[in-house]
Amino acid sequence: MTRPVLVGSERSEVGLEAAAAMLAAGASALDAVEEALRRCEDNLEDHYVGTGGLPNARGEVELDASLMVGSTRAVGAVAALKGYPHPISVARRVLEALPQHCLLVGEGAALFAEEQGFERADLLTDEARRLFVEALAPSPDAVEGEGGAARDGDALYRSRAMDLVARFRPHGGPWGTINVLALDESGELVSGVSTSGYPWKYPGRVGDSPVPGAGFYCDARVGAAACTGRGELALRTGGARLVVDALARGEAPEAACRALLEEARGVPDDFRAELRVLCLTPDGRHGGAAGQPGSIYNVVEGGGALTRVARALV
Ligand code: GLY
Repeated sequence: MTRPVLVGSERSEVGLEAAAAMLAAGASALDAVEEALRRCEDNLEDHYVGTGGLPNARGEVELDASLMVGSTRAVGAVAALKGYPHPISVARRVLEALPQHCLLVGEGAALFAEEQGFERADLLTDEARRLFVEALAPSPDAVEGEGGAARDGDALYRSRAMDLVARFRPHGGPWGTINVLALDESGELVSGVSTSGYPWKYPGRVGDSPVPGAGFYCDARVGAAACTGRGELALRTGGARLVVDALARGEAPEAACRALLEEARGVPDDFRAELRVLCLTPDGRHGGAAGQPGSIYNVVEGGGALTRVARALV
């Protein structure tokens, strides 16, 4: 029997302990990962996932989530899903009820969620709305551009929104996507990711979190990996798959995570921001790496307590 292990990114604590208790009682990795992420999605103080997630440039909350099962490499994922508070459960339903597909987006994802009986909810909380309005206030050094006053209102709006995307900085406090990786007593490995994506993003923008090989990858023979931070860098480098490939070549978990950060560093990107990754192997080893100091990930091994592990700084 395999000793269960759970690994989660920053702010996964909200769900990790309950999921660890489930795993210790013999639950599947899939159930544990879904439960951990549902609890994170319900955390109103977290503005980067689920209800309370920060909206796109039009003020709409668009959520992405994914699950991948290591033994079958089955994937269920949703992207740009509006109005459903638990995208991770919709992703699981895609995995189980729509096996001919891996990823549903936008209207189609919402149609599927409705057909499957998921409850709708208003995801934009008062606090997220306040942060949005504050971010949309013209900055003192905003440049109107040529003929500013005469500009068509819509075009001005769009240029302002794009300006916001370009100068996006995360607000103070913990931020980013949440990753949870689990190994259960049967030896199954599962990866899960949930996010509201980049705040003030262009409507319809999808990052790495629901894209297999980019924001997540899981192969029970080799390992699971998942990313947080600047999704475009993970998309452009095939981030999570790159880490799993490094594990397959025999790299240790931390070295495999470092390999992604080193690869990403070589990619030109005017919008470069934090990129973090973590991984878990079928024999319970784990590692993480980040481009910024002070980054950690959470681990629960067996029935033990949650511990915080420093990510390698690359
Ligand atoms: N890593 C999450 C995103 O870029 O949307």
